[in-house]
Amino acid sequence: MTGSDRRPVVDLTDEEARLRLPLKWGVPDDVIPAWVAEMDYAVDPVVLEAVQRMLADGITGYPLFGWDPELAQSYAAWSARHFGWAPDPEAVHPVVDVTAGVRLAIDVFSGPGGVVFPTPGYNAQFGLATITGREEVRLDVPVSADRAEVDLDRLDRLFADGAQTLILTQPHNPWGRVFTRAELEGIRDVVVRHGARVVSDEIHAPLVLPGAEHVSYLSIDGTHDHAVAVVAASKAFNTAGLRCAQVVVPSTADRRLLADQPMSRNDSHSPIGAVAARAAYDLGDPWLASLVERLDQQRALLGELLAAHLPEVRMRPLEATYLAWLDASAYGHDDAAGVALERGRVKVSPGESYAPGTTGQVRLNIATSSDRLVEIVERLAKAWT
Ligand SMILES: Cc1ncc(COP(=O)(O)O)c(C=O)c1O
Repeated sequence: MTGSDRRPVVDLTDEEARLRLPLKWGVPDDVIPAWVAEMDYAVDPVVLEAVQRMLADGITGYPLFGWDPELAQSYAAWSARHFGWAPDPEAVHPVVDVTAGVRLAIDVFSGPGGVVFPTPGYNAQFGLATITGREEVRLDVPVSADRAEVDLDRLDRLFADGAQTLILTQPHNPWGRVFTRAELEGIRDVVVRHGARVVSDEIHAPLVLPGAEHVSYLSIDGTHDHAVAVVAASKAFNTAGLRCAQVVVPSTADRRLLADQPMSRNDSHSPIGAVAARAAYDLGDPWLASLVERLDQQRALLGELLAAHLPEVRMRPLEATYLAWLDASAYGHDDAAGVALERGRVKVSPGESYAPGTTGQVRLNIATSSDRLVEIVERLAKAWT
């Protein structure tokens, strides 16, 4: 896509961000928020207009039950354009959000055995296995490893010991990794050997940065009878509050099982979120291209800033997402996030919330203006050194 075909990414002022992103910016005035995964950028006007039009037309009724053909078609076409692979539209079903979709998939499709959750893991998904009545089985990846990978031998042993499901986060938050086809095939082989299931959380797929390529777990041969993917436009298009994600269920037997569930198991998605998702999938490419370019620039800027101000911080290569995992343990603060807030007035996410029991790590959200990123790293340097 050439520059002239693009729609630009527009930075929010502090005042706009405080109004539009009440969770992220619900901090004292002297604190810069760089924690929860929301971006300090204005929503793509095309997406906003679709929602505004819907409400101007007074469309406030229930969304369709179950399958929404237009949303399903939009996702399938988008996936084909971006990833060279598309599910059958009949596989794509709305859910309220990705976390609910992961839970729904485990509730409906998984056996009663434990759920393997690689850690560091997305913090809001700790405890998710437990509320489905299953044991949460951690597969720890050393936080300081230069390249985070799923250890296939350990995965094999966890399944041999009775676990029956893997939550795969692809691309991974907070590892920043995009799994390669070969890695995914390795995971598939272990899963198939044990007759286990995979729930692949692919919310960050649109946010793969130059140098990496998203491969959906469902595009790997031999995965359709044991896996679903949970996808959404909401993370890439900054519309998390509008409440619609999609679960992609490629197996017709699984789809029958889903259709037979009591309605109350999955009746919460918002038609506003569905309209936003369709607009993003159908019309959002010119904005998304600008976003990915901007995030690539922020990634490069972060590398330069760390080299200049915090040379002892180790950062894993960021292949996707705008969430950088920083190992600041060389500076000797166990509670690096607490020190950043107290002394630097920057709110970052404590590594411990993704990797319980660890110290000295933080997750830094770089989806902000370049000026703010400069200020953030300067403040972190002041706080930690
Ligand atoms: C890997 C991952 N899954 C799910 C979510 C949350 O998605 P949702 O708000 O749709 O539940 C996030 C949010 O950052 C995430 O990083």
